[in-house]
Amino acid sequence: MKPAILVTREVFDDVLAYLGEHFAVESNQGDTPFTPDQLAQRLAGKAGALTTLSDRVDAALLARCPELKAVCNIAVGFNNFDLAACTAAGVMATNTPGVLDDSTADFVWALILATARRVSESERTLRAGQWTGWKLKQFLGTDVHHATLGILGMGRIGQKVARRALGFDMRVLYHNRNRLPHEQEQALNATYVSQDELFARSDILSIHTPYAPDTHHLIGAAEFARMKPGAIFIHASRGGVVDDAALVEALRSGRLAGAGLDVYEGEPNLNRDLLGFENVVLTPHIASSSEATRRSMAMLAARNLVAALAGETPPNLLNPTVRALRP
Ligand code: 8YV
Repeated sequence: MKPAILVTREVFDDVLAYLGEHFAVESNQGDTPFTPDQLAQRLAGKAGALTTLSDRVDAALLARCPELKAVCNIAVGFNNFDLAACTAAGVMATNTPGVLDDSTADFVWALILATARRVSESERTLRAGQWTGWKLKQFLGTDVHHATLGILGMGRIGQKVARRALGFDMRVLYHNRNRLPHEQEQALNATYVSQDELFARSDILSIHTPYAPDTHHLIGAAEFARMKPGAIFIHASRGGVVDDAALVEALRSGRLAGAGLDVYEGEPNLNRDLLGFENVVLTPHIASSSEATRRSMAMLAARNLVAALAGETPPNLLNPTVRALRP
């Protein structure tokens, strides 16, 4: 008999078909997110699951799903998993690194350009029938070329963002837990600085750190106060890394020229005050959402699940100390 698995949200048909070759699949093509209790009920008796950022997998859930052996996130971020609890329960956890780096970095650049050059704001004016004609001083923006780009978190995606800055003749500064090897810094033309210096010197600052207990509100009032007057703030990593209330205050004070945001605390219930700023570009967590990339992410998660339940080491295992599958 094929092992039973749950796919918690809508996925592409070919991903379901591939999973169906290996498993008895319960899907959720209606795509309404499960409450924690519904998730536990659906997972009862399942050996594995394809999950997304809205599915919390913690000790309480795992205690209710003793047959669960693997949870495979369709995301590179995995803050929805309590990894220690998964490991303690002998449940493999996987994510989807790599396949979304370029699409996400492209989108970060969409946010940078749209914010600096006031794309959303000017389009809103035009669509509202309020454009009365060309004016010399209309929608004056901030130049991106030759500006200083600051990157906080120089992992795979941060590096892709930096690479794209070469074409805009920018100075790139970065801060990261670990400094990059010299050759990599040279290839990206990126200079390592302290976090304080990064905030003080960047004209455009983009955040690329994962969300974990130690990065909760990594950026708050003190960090915004350090930013250059007229700087632009970009965030497409994970809600919670930034204190959104502090960001609202920084915008209200007029210190920032603008912000481009794709992720929020408490998604989808973002801080409503953000909606009031014309100089803020807001998108609904779509940085990885190209057709090809979302397909790759879902298929990679499916491959992880197939490998895990076949007793192999999945390509993107997050907790390698889980050796034996739960009995
Ligand atoms: C996902 C993301 O679309 O991969 C991530 O961590 O933030 C996005 O690419 C989202 O998390 C879906 O689970």
